Amino acid sequence: MKVVYMSMTGQTKKFVKKLEMDSLEITMSNAFQEIYEPYVVVAPTYEIEATSILNDFIETGNNQAYLKGIAGGGNRNFNTLFCFTAKDLAEQYQVPILHMFEFQGSNYDVEYFKEKVRELGES
Ligand SMILES: Cc1cc2nc3c(=O)[nH]c(=O)nc-3n(C[C@H](O)[C@H](O)[C@H](O)COP(=O)(O)O)c2cc1C
Repeated sequence: MKVVYMSMTGQTKKFVKKLEMDSLEITMSNAFQEIYEPYVVVAPTYEIEATSILNDFIETGNNQAYLKGIAGGGNRNFNTLFCFTAKDLAEQYQVPILHMFEFQGSNYDVEYFKEKVRELGES
């Protein structure tokens, strides 16, 4: 399972590094790249203007068919807006939310996420 993510200030990137999984960072320059293997998206939480490159990626070619789940990074100080980007993506593309964590995530977050991804592989 590949981990596809974006990161504006480096927190999500740090989380993904700790996973030690095959990963792909989405930027403006590769948002329309096609993928041909199952993946999960890890999304930081920002206004849609900032995160729409994830939508671009998911909607490119047949990419949506390989999307298996979404995880979100955010900041609980935003209260009801905590991880709304991940929630919106999961709703929009009808895939499960695997986990929501703050900033670069704790060791617990890393292990929990990896377990959720393993479960996806078995289902
Ligand atoms: C301008 C701005 C808006 C944000 N809005 C939210 C928000 O609505 N909800 C949330 O959970 N986190 C919000 N965050 C927190 C980030 O999503 C969080 O720090 C995340 O870990 C950043 O990931 P990144 O460093 O990979 O970009 C916001 C951060 C900034 C700077």
